[in-house]
Amino acid sequence: MKKLDPKISNKNIKWHNLTVDREKLEQMRGHKGMVLWFTGLSGSGKSTLANALNDSLHSKGLSTYILDGDNIRHGLCKDLGFSDKDREENIRRIGEVANLFMNAGIITITAFVSPFQIDREKVRNIIGDDFIEVYCSANLDVCEERDTKGLYKKARLGEIKDFTGISSPYEAPLNPEIVVDTGSLNLDEAVEKILTFLIDRGFINHKYS
Ligand code: ADX
Repeated sequence: MKKLDPKISNKNIKWHNLTVDREKLEQMRGHKGMVLWFTGLSGSGKSTLANALNDSLHSKGLSTYILDGDNIRHGLCKDLGFSDKDREENIRRIGEVANLFMNAGIITITAFVSPFQIDREKVRNIIGDDFIEVYCSANLDVCEERDTKGLYKKARLGEIKDFTGISSPYEAPLNPEIVVDTGSLNLDEAVEKILTFLIDRGFINHKYS
């Protein structure tokens, strides 16, 4: 079968403006859509913190959704592994999905290792001003000591290749909006730190404090 030339097929695809747009959806929900992009080593507490923050926002009546690395790799990204290229594609897809959720007026919380600065910057460019990078900064010693999933042990034994922090790099964010020291803060303190940021910067109304 003849392969489609992507350049030609793109020319034949037109953007449709939606009548029920982001503005209308945000009005309906009573708050802005945004993306809270958690990044950090495996075991740094991204998923735990994302869940706790989600509980807190949800209980205040805000519309939220979590996109979590381990879960997304069961479906949307189940064809991807952990090579640099596959991680790049993983983050690209999640960036696009997060953008869709944000445009639906949802507070979108993502929890992916997302180890490469350039991949996170590309997502920042897609999302724009409503991209909030949250660096879960627990260091390698802490994460390896915790080893909640037993993966560091396997990585040290060479049973998992390209493991972030052991045999694949982690590039810490240079200018994240929020740094949460998930190595020392307890969960309530960490949630509070993020909520305070969101309220102080006007991402959510102070009535939610
Ligand atoms: S990312 O690098 O592409 O952003 P993602 O967040 O989706 O990674 O998946 C990371 C999760 O997959 C980790 O929390 C861990 O449970 C698991 N995992 C399995 N193999 C690896 C690996 N080689 N490196 C990092 N995490 C891995």
